[in-house]
Amino acid sequence: MTIADLAGQDLDRLDLKILATDIDGEMVARGTAALYDAASIEGIPDAMRQRFLTPEGGAYRVKPPLRAMVSFRELNLHDRWPMKGRFDVIFCRNVVIYFDAPTQEKLWARFESALTPGGWLFVGHSERVPLRANGALRTAGITTYRRGETPQNGDPTWH
Ligand SMILES: C[S@@+](CC[C@H](N)C(=O)[O-])C[C@H]1O[C@@H](n2cnc3c(N)ncnc32)[C@H](O)[C@@H]1O
Repeated sequence: MTIADLAGQDLDRLDLKILATDIDGEMVARGTAALYDAASIEGIPDAMRQRFLTPEGGAYRVKPPLRAMVSFRELNLHDRWPMKGRFDVIFCRNVVIYFDAPTQEKLWARFESALTPGGWLFVGHSERVPLRANGALRTAGITTYRRGETPQNGDPTWH
């Protein structure tokens, strides 16, 4: 909704796609259904509700143009990733924290590789990505990271 709102009149001409994944098929089915109860949409401003949601039997369903931007798929993060392109933004919040340290390290590196140069990674409030000396991620906020080019040795502007 935020992206569609910011895009305004340009929405139709922009190639905006969101891939939403989870290992749990039930979560994927819920996302696909795009039906939210009143409590879930409390934080959404009125103007956005009217533009993007349709009331339906006491709940709210996301309107088709917005639903068309998002694909929901089952994915185990530890398996092979079938996605071919890179992402401008990745949100992975409150998932990696449940895995052991070596697994976390592998996943952060996979996210880094899956980002376009200049792409953003957002993690949960209790999560931190340990930045590798030769890695391309750098901090861009407390729980925000950004992919740059691989740093030159000793470049002090890289963390
Ligand atoms: C604590 S929830 C976080 C959900 C959401 N990101 C949030 O911040 O509210 C963790 C989610 O990770 C999913 N998950 C657990 N292991 C996973 C895996 N190996 N691959 C993909 N998703 C996984 C769970 O099914 C669950 O939906």
